[in-house]
Amino acid sequence: MTSHALESVALTLVTGGKGILAADETVPTLTKRFDTLGIPSTEQSRRTYREMLFTCPGAAEFIGGAIMYDETIRQKRASGATLAEALTVQGMLPGIKVDTGAKPLAGSPNESVTEGLDGLRDRLKEYHNMGARFAKWRAVIRVTDSLPSGACVSANAHALARYASLCQEQEVVPIVEPEVLMDGPHTIERCEEVTGGVLHAVFNALFEQGVALEGILLKPNMVIAGKECTRPASVDEVAAATLRCLRRHVPVAVPAIVFLSGGQHARLATAHLNAINQLPIAKPWKVSFSYGRALQDPALEVWQGRDENFTAGQRALYHRARLNAAASVGTYTSEMEAASPNDGDPPHRHDWGDD
Ligand code: 13P
Repeated sequence: MTSHALESVALTLVTGGKGILAADETVPTLTKRFDTLGIPSTEQSRRTYREMLFTCPGAAEFIGGAIMYDETIRQKRASGATLAEALTVQGMLPGIKVDTGAKPLAGSPNESVTEGLDGLRDRLKEYHNMGARFAKWRAVIRVTDSLPSGACVSANAHALARYASLCQEQEVVPIVEPEVLMDGPHTIERCEEVTGGVLHAVFNALFEQGVALEGILLKPNMVIAGKECTRPASVDEVAAATLRCLRRHVPVAVPAIVFLSGGQHARLATAHLNAINQLPIAKPWKVSFSYGRALQDPALEVWQGRDENFTAGQRALYHRARLNAAASVGTYTSEMEAASPNDGDPPHRHDWGDD
């Protein structure tokens, strides 16, 4: 596959105001989320939940593709069709999380390095045969006054680049996700400094490994103050700092930037994306979303694990997806939130970890 063909897959995911639904929680992470609402986590309940998301009528207007976890891509609906096929029928591309998780970094136990390179070529071949056309690998970077260490940044950047190169070899578009965490009391300025350094290291590593930048999607954090920071940043400050940082560090060849939500409240994640897209500053890439919690929270909250709430859960997902699609072209307004009373920010969201 040429870099042009990879680029056209990448653009399919984000063109026309679309974004990506990250629904690739591992079994332990989804179980944690279900537990908070008292929903039993079984192979079947997880399948029903993903089926609710993936068969949501009309969602393909706003969502170009969904990222699955290994369990999900192997699951089948009652009809016998796979969940990957369910996405394709709706008009959404199937994607797959291929890292095997963030593990403690030797020599720096408070930091992590994401694993999963061993056997990745064969796993990518298998996933491609199952319909996956794009993949995700998440590196996790913790911020303190003294972290991240150089070792953490370079180990994660190297792994991301090796992963991206293998994906492109196997005709799969890699989502490159270096996440600088929101946890902690750090300021927005510290987040900008760390995010800039991490992006610099990641693009260096991608260059070294010969990755075609036209054929990737970058999934970064927004530049934002830490959750425990005593000086929270305004929406306009977040937008300005995020765009400044990305313009300084993301080459123009990258077709699109799709943000993670990282624990932001659903409405705030939408407002931030909208403010970034409204800034009257040149953006050489499309700027959209690849949200997990900020897209799923309202739907999960409404569903509650009950069959009778299946359609209401889909309505909540549709609504949130529509608002984020508007934000990805800078036309979101807070008045649009009123269309559904059920999709606010559930109070438990801070307890949720992610993958
Ligand atoms: P959040 O939007 O919940 O951060 O999830 C996105 C994701 O894919 C994390 O890897």
